[in-house]
Amino acid sequence: MISKLTIQKINDEARVEDVVGEFVTLKKRGANLLGLCPFHNEKTPSFNVNPARNIYKCFGCGKAGGPLQFLMDYQQLSYPDALRFLAKKYNIEIEETVEASEQREQIEKQNLTESIYIANAFAQKFFTEHMFNSDSGKIGLAYFKERGFLNHTIEKFQLGFAPDAPDALTKAALKENFQLDILKKAGLTSPKENSTYDFFRTRVMFPIHNITGKVAGFGGRIMVKDEKAPKYINTPESEVYLKSKILYGAYFAKNEIRKKDECLLVEGYTDVISLHQSGIENAVASSGTALTQDQIRLIKRMTPNITMLYDGDAAGMKAALRGTDLILEEGMNVRVVTLPPTEDPDSFVRKSGEEAFNKYIKENRKDLILFKTSIFAEEAKKDPIKKAELIRDIVNSIAKIPDTIQRSVYIKECSQLFDLDEQVLITEVNKIRRKKNSEQNNEADKRQEREQIKADELPKAFHKEQFNEAPAHLHIIEHDIIRILIEFGSWKTPDDTMTVVQYVLDELEGLEIETPKYKFVYDTIKREFADGNIHPEKFFTTHSDEQITSVAIELLSQPYSLSDNWWNKYKIVVPEKKDIFVKDIQSTVIRFKHFKIIAELKKVEHKLKETTNEAELVRLMKLHKLLMNQKKEFALTVGNVLYRPTT
Ligand code: CTP
Ligand code: MN
Repeated sequence: MISKLTIQKINDEARVEDVVGEFVTLKKRGANLLGLCPFHNEKTPSFNVNPARNIYKCFGCGKAGGPLQFLMDYQQLSYPDALRFLAKKYNIEIEETVEASEQREQIEKQNLTESIYIANAFAQKFFTEHMFNSDSGKIGLAYFKERGFLNHTIEKFQLGFAPDAPDALTKAALKENFQLDILKKAGLTSPKENSTYDFFRTRVMFPIHNITGKVAGFGGRIMVKDEKAPKYINTPESEVYLKSKILYGAYFAKNEIRKKDECLLVEGYTDVISLHQSGIENAVASSGTALTQDQIRLIKRMTPNITMLYDGDAAGMKAALRGTDLILEEGMNVRVVTLPPTEDPDSFVRKSGEEAFNKYIKENRKDLILFKTSIFAEEAKKDPIKKAELIRDIVNSIAKIPDTIQRSVYIKECSQLFDLDEQVLITEVNKIRRKKNSEQNNEADKRQEREQIKADELPKAFHKEQFNEAPAHLHIIEHDIIRILIEFGSWKTPDDTMTVVQYVLDELEGLEIETPKYKFVYDTIKREFADGNIHPEKFFTTHSDEQITSVAIELLSQPYSLSDNWWNKYKIVVPEKKDIFVKDIQSTVIRFKHFKIIAELKKVEHKLKETTNEAELVRLMKLHKLLMNQKKEFALTVGNVLYRPTT
């Protein structure tokens, strides 16, 4: 367990713009930062980062939170892992309240994902140790050496060897109190019932790290040529190993990709490793399959430029082409380099070295149109039907590019290459785009539109509620109470005698908050306040319970301020929040009490009609009179502050 003090330090240090900025390209927009939301697909940025409040919110999909929440949501980290991530980033020493030796207990307690990661980490160490420290493992090390991998490379990529034994890993793990069930779920032990067979046997092992550096799965390569056995076997899909979302090498490449503003995409594990060893550290691999949209987006967060490096053979080129249209659709730039026949990036970089390799890439990379053209040019020259097919294919690709300028550049290029009228191509491309648009009617845009409408309607709804008789919705007032507590809770009242939390809690003493989610937050504030904590904004936006953070963020990140709205309505110039907060607080407290009185009155009136008991009748009538007086008094104050008196 990470100590409370450490958590507090981390929350004090962590800056939302730093953390989000690691994964999302942000642009300054006033006091805030704006970027493309990483949680949903969008073309116009609606992802807002507010450094002053240390929170982010997407006005498109509604995702919101602080630095911790971002890591938990976006990187799928657990709460403690998100804390560790931040501690590392900000050089904060972690103080544990439980000794590391109690890891075993944790294994039982922690959730499935966590346990799988722990099992994978164990397996990785087991494979590596076996390779370096046992006689039977030495053949694995020899294999890697033979392939030209240096020791520091082997260590960096945490390579290893799975022993030539039926259940060496499983046995060792069980001895360390790992649960068989977890080992199976991690894909380390054969999933068959009652079996304790290791999934990987007699193979050199490539751990596959997720973007945060945790081992999510493994690829195991056979060491001898064997027609019957597959060259590679990979961890089956699991809770943590989702092949379509992982890029091999991304953890080691991410900084360099950002720095060079380019991502090299290759096919295999060994390609990535050889490139990194040669000093080309912006390379990742799709692991033999066509690039998925998730993988493309992972890259997009680091750079818009992808260079695909593929084997010079026909299969390699075909593979390259499979992913390209998806990349164009994401609005990214894609270039393709074909290597000399019979070479793959691994063999080629080892032969040529860093400098020559980079030179080769620079001279041979082609944009998509040139690439497609060069592949099919020979065929197309002779055959007009083939030529028409090729042009259609290229036009289809161009139509996928979201950016107008980029599209027209490609169209120009295409028209020159094939000696075609540019206008004809433009018409064709536009036709395809129109068709596509009407077909899909872009879900993301629609959603954004809906959100926009909602936001536009909101002030009207409030408006109606304010100026009609009594407020119709208690939850709206309660929403305001919580907002005030979170926003101004730690501020001092103007007479400097107490904090706003104290003031509000005193004023509302004995009154219940009724809306469940606000009641929950209110009660938590009350409790925390009793413990001496007077920073609701901080403890809520950094809370470990997502329910709480989401309410807090929702309240803090309204695109407009309700109170400002009201005051604007009265044409009172109130430019700064700090100038109106007193009225904001007072009016909210009054509206709440007023509502409660009216509700109470209604209850009493109802009871008056029902009761037949004389004494009870008298009591109720007295109560009724009292409440009526209070209501009148209130109506005056309320009228002064906010809305017309109710009669
Ligand atoms: N691959 C796989 N299963 C296979 C073959 C390949 O999962 N049976 C994946 C691996 O991720 C591999 C990538 O596809 O790294 C590329 O395949 P290939 O070019 O055949 O392997 P290399 O990485 O070049 O491996 P090596 O150089 O060791 O042959
Ligand atoms: Mn290879």
